Amino acid sequence: MNAIPEITLNDGLTLPAIGFGTYKLNGAAGVNTIVSAIDVGYRLLDSAFNYENEGALGEAVRRSSVPREQLRITSKLPGRHHAYDEAITTIQESLLRAGLDYYDLYLIHWPNPSKDLYVDAWRALIDAKKWGLIRSIGVCNFLPEHLERLIQETGVTPSVNQVELHPYFSQEKQRAWDREHGIVTESWSPLGRASTLLEDSTIQQIADSHHKSIPQIILRWHIQLGALPIPKASSPARQLENLTLFDFSLTDEEMQTIGQLSQPNGRLQNQDPAKYEEF
Ligand SMILES: NC(=O)c1ccc[n+]([C@@H]2O[C@H](COP(=O)([O-])OP(=O)(O)OC[C@H]3O[C@@H](n4cnc5c(N)ncnc54)[C@H](OP(=O)(O)O)[C@@H]3O)[C@@H](O)[C@H]2O)c1
Repeated sequence: MNAIPEITLNDGLTLPAIGFGTYKLNGAAGVNTIVSAIDVGYRLLDSAFNYENEGALGEAVRRSSVPREQLRITSKLPGRHHAYDEAITTIQESLLRAGLDYYDLYLIHWPNPSKDLYVDAWRALIDAKKWGLIRSIGVCNFLPEHLERLIQETGVTPSVNQVELHPYFSQEKQRAWDREHGIVTESWSPLGRASTLLEDSTIQQIADSHHKSIPQIILRWHIQLGALPIPKASSPARQLENLTLFDFSLTDEEMQTIGQLSQPNGRLQNQDPAKYEEF
């Protein structure tokens, strides 16, 4: 496997160009799956307070043979704890659950605009970073209007915005906005959560011509867009397949062909952050 390139965030921390998703990886089986992902070569690991797997992730980190400082570990603040004091307590609880001294990346999970507390939550992340509990801070599912408020009211720009992004929902405008503001876009459900996307005949043709699989073509498309995908896969074989992306490249025409599959209503579950909220 070729080396994974690195991306430098706006505060200087580096992340590998691809990470590992852990939604639904819980308990002892989850620990084993995450240890395998680290063994296979993933160094950026996603998790969330609401996935109830910060403990499994922390245990996998301790069991793996890779030194802690070589890993980039992410968790996320749930919507019900946006108020400043609750957010600080939740970050501390996240660390305790994982058995870690610090997170590399901590993200606000959803903006929940009707509650109007995400700026409070952002101030808590800023302070937690100052205190050394977190190395880099960011958000998920933030639209330009939400990001603008964070920047205007605190003067601190997120390092990362993790959003739903796959060929059926390519987030062209959000990616451009993030890029112009020095924010790295991470792609959640980068494989469309194994929906019909993995049977797409257009992508299959491109895959055949490169002697690659559909997931590899899709993940390579993310990389060439400059978005950072975090695919989840249960078996070591799939984990390795999804990392084997750096020995080929897509042409501009192939990139455009895949981009043209995007639909305005292409979200998997209609989770538009302007309206959809999660607590
Ligand atoms: N911030 C947010 O709001 C948010 C929301 C959703 C997700 N996320 C994060 O993003 C991560 C990734 O998204 P996701 O888990 O929703 O979906 P995904 O990574 O797009 O897809 C995962 C699915 O694809 C299958 N798969 C993976 N590699 C494959 C391969 N090479 N061939 C065939 N099938 C393959 C997996 O099956 P097996 O597991 O059976 O191998 C699983 O069913 C999550 O795990 C989570 O960490 C964040």
